[in-house]
Amino acid sequence: MTATIIDGKVLAQQVRDQAKADVEKMKEMGLRVPGLATVLVGDNPASKVYVASKQKACGEAGIESFGHTLPATATQEEVEGLVRELNADPRVDGILVQLPLPSPLDEEGVLKSISIEKDVDGFHPINIGRLAQKGRDPLFVPCTPYGCVYMLKLIGTKLEGCNAVVLGRSNIVGMPVALLLVRENATVTICHSRSKDLPAICRGADVLIAAVGRAQMVRGDWVKPGAVVIDVGINRIDDPTHPKGSRLVGDVMYDEVKEVASAITPVPGGVGPMTIAMLMRNTVHSAKMAQNVTW
Ligand code: GUN
Repeated sequence: MTATIIDGKVLAQQVRDQAKADVEKMKEMGLRVPGLATVLVGDNPASKVYVASKQKACGEAGIESFGHTLPATATQEEVEGLVRELNADPRVDGILVQLPLPSPLDEEGVLKSISIEKDVDGFHPINIGRLAQKGRDPLFVPCTPYGCVYMLKLIGTKLEGCNAVVLGRSNIVGMPVALLLVRENATVTICHSRSKDLPAICRGADVLIAAVGRAQMVRGDWVKPGAVVIDVGINRIDDPTHPKGSRLVGDVMYDEVKEVASAITPVPGGVGPMTIAMLMRNTVHSAKMAQNVTW
């Protein structure tokens, strides 16, 4: 079997086009356009690239973008003070504090200071807590997990009753994607560095989400024939045959797994573009809630 390649670029563009159309409609109705504030602390090169991409996406969707940068030496009080100002700014519908924060800043303290109505990343402890509880709904779902489940649904994956295996238990991807899958009535197994016999656990998966940050860890013989594989990893590996001397790969050995799975996301061009698209969607959703828009 050769897997269907799930084209994240195409699916993400559809989500971004919808966000843009919603913004247009808001403008036509005389409503305020959505606004997203980004907070970048320090000079982590990857974080700078991610924040710049998020700001560019805002521009393309007609979302106003408010960029804030603080030095790596910023104090807890300075970061939380900025967040409080953004909480109070009526032009701002979403506040995104790029993670990881430089040490010794207290990440949870900063995330907790974001108003839950503006928590478009969905990382506020209340939003995460609601995601984990039956009969409760978070105001926002974290963007990468949301993108993973959105893709799965769009390609028609039956999640109810399926065996889903999540490799990785990070706060940003592994744990929230597992919670989302439970909400879809999947039977979810979360694996991590202490799990025994990962290949055997993975072979039981109808849906396999790889989010461990280990290049090409998931091999072809780890995957059940016909499984759907979502690769969240972004790892740079040396490749002398490549013009740059290196290239990006996921957590999945793509060339092997695509021969076994029924569908697979590539890296790059799979989950990555979905993260930004879901952020645009969450920001528009927030602006609609703030202005009592019901469509
Ligand atoms: N760092 C890696 N992914 C993310 C994300 O989705 N949001 C934020 N704020 N930081 C990140």
